[in-house]
Amino acid sequence: ATQPRPGGNIEGAWEALREEAAHCTRCDLYKHATQTVFGEGPVDARMMIVGEQPGDQEDLAGHPFVGPAGEVFDRAMVEAGIDRAGVYVTNAVKHFKFEPRGKRRIHSKPDAGEIQACRWWYEQERLLVKPELTIALGASAARQMLGKTVTIAATRGRALDLPDGGRGWVTVHPSYLLRLPDRAKAEDAFAAFVEDLKGAEKLLA
Ligand code: URA
Repeated sequence: ATQPRPGGNIEGAWEALREEAAHCTRCDLYKHATQTVFGEGPVDARMMIVGEQPGDQEDLAGHPFVGPAGEVFDRAMVEAGIDRAGVYVTNAVKHFKFEPRGKRRIHSKPDAGEIQACRWWYEQERLLVKPELTIALGASAARQMLGKTVTIAATRGRALDLPDGGRGWVTVHPSYLLRLPDRAKAEDAFAAFVEDLKGAEKLLA
């Protein structure tokens, strides 16, 4: 049901895929999350950007990168001169994983099994979008993109050849920038993130 059918169109196939993902039970995260947060953006985008997993606000809104990390992401995209509306934005894992703490829900990292379980959706998205360039934000996204554990330090900021075609690029996750306590260091790290995005985009020129 997820392949473009003869006579069907690619947007229709994507809608069907998103609808299917809304009922996903491939791992246990669906049990506590509000909803599946599927990728978004033009299905014919040249660039795909992959985050880790929806956060608290994304879980409630049903859209990727709309909370605090999304604000940093949006600001960096503007500074890098990349129009988010032209990019397909998704996550390595499509349900919010959290620990309840009082009334708050504290983000917790997806484990290797959850990333693997969600790989199916990521691969289906890629079969439709076929991006020329994929940017992974942080280690979980890099793991999904490359199919193996890597460190940001070893892979950051250079063109990588992806197993399913196209180029890959690894950079930090915007949440990491939010966690840096030192303001000057956070500004430097933000500037480096913007430079990474610009460097990646040059590959499309
Ligand atoms: N962090 C992510 O990795 N993805 C989102 O969609 C939001 C926050």
